Amino acid sequence: MKIKTLVSCMTLASLLFASTAFAGSKATITMQSFGKTKEGVDTALYSLTNANGVKTDITNYGGIVVRLFVPDREGNMGDVVLGYNTVAEYILDTPYFGALIGRIGNRVADGKFSLDGKTYHLVTNNFPADIPCHLHGGTVGYDKVVWDAEPFIENNTPGLKLHYLSIDGEEGYPGNLDITVWYRLTNDNSLKIDYLATTDKATPVNLTNHSYFNLKGEGNGDILGHVMKFNAANYTPVNAGLIPTGEIASVKGTPFDFTSPHTIGERVNSSNEQMKFGGGYDHNWVLDNQDGDLALAATAFESTSGRFMEVWTEEPGVQFYVGNFLDGSIIGKSGKPYNFRNGFCLETQHYPDSPNQADFPSIILKPGEEYTTTTIYRFGTR
Ligand code: GLA
Repeated sequence: MKIKTLVSCMTLASLLFASTAFAGSKATITMQSFGKTKEGVDTALYSLTNANGVKTDITNYGGIVVRLFVPDREGNMGDVVLGYNTVAEYILDTPYFGALIGRIGNRVADGKFSLDGKTYHLVTNNFPADIPCHLHGGTVGYDKVVWDAEPFIENNTPGLKLHYLSIDGEEGYPGNLDITVWYRLTNDNSLKIDYLATTDKATPVNLTNHSYFNLKGEGNGDILGHVMKFNAANYTPVNAGLIPTGEIASVKGTPFDFTSPHTIGERVNSSNEQMKFGGGYDHNWVLDNQDGDLALAATAFESTSGRFMEVWTEEPGVQFYVGNFLDGSIIGKSGKPYNFRNGFCLETQHYPDSPNQADFPSIILKPGEEYTTTTIYRFGTR
């Protein structure tokens, strides 16, 4: 009820904003080729521009958000997400820049889980501290497939509908999972992502988006000065293999406490054992909101540009990863290297290793049920 009021206020505010300051501006969508996959499948790049001139480029390869231009406090547009200019580069090597992630976002211990008395073996494609696990859906996750795409404009809001059928047995998962994702670039300068999935066999599902943000603009250095605040009093500590121990631990007195604002850099090199395991922040925060309604999870503010970003989600958790594996070997869209900690991710999600953790909220979707979840990245300046 409370949340509903909030959402309608946001919508009302955005309508007023659109009709007063930008009367007459029209949302637009254009489309161009984004090149072919190795198998020769055509991919496309859709440019969505909202009534304020805020623009995002999204490809149906992996559902990747390739560019996202939002204004700074002077009104200058800057691209605040990391990525590449061509599909070939995404295919060759990507740390999941901007992509849709599934069937299970994040890690599954040893790539194994049991469901209805049967043990399933998933691909192990990640080895923190030499301990194998399944990460982000496996070798060919949803970030590496071509989705069916349908651009649309409704209520002067541009959007892109993406559809993918993940077949029974794909990457070891049970059941045909029919997935639809809607991206919308709304006129309150939000990138809104709605997910829907249905299955014909019980299966774990944990979908997310893996955008790397830098509110100074991609390629403009590290993210250590960003000021973060999370509505999360707890997090899930991990072992050396980055698998949760099962404990829901208080953030109080730790570098994980962002209940009041702190820069990323302030405690990122702390000698806290958890920070050593992650090589910095690479953990799941347990959001205070656990009722499945849309709520504010996190904010990030960057003072030189004046840009801020809010993350709203219906999910119970968020993985905060600060680009600890970026090392300058990747050259980004503007020809500049992405060095250590040059981007951060806020991956809204259920907790890592959920299928093996009886006390975590379940991610099992059954036939006849609908998996739906919404995440919003909203941008502004101050
Ligand atoms: C996620 C993981 C990180 C890392 C990145 C990709 O955010 O939590 O450990 O694997 O993806 O580099």
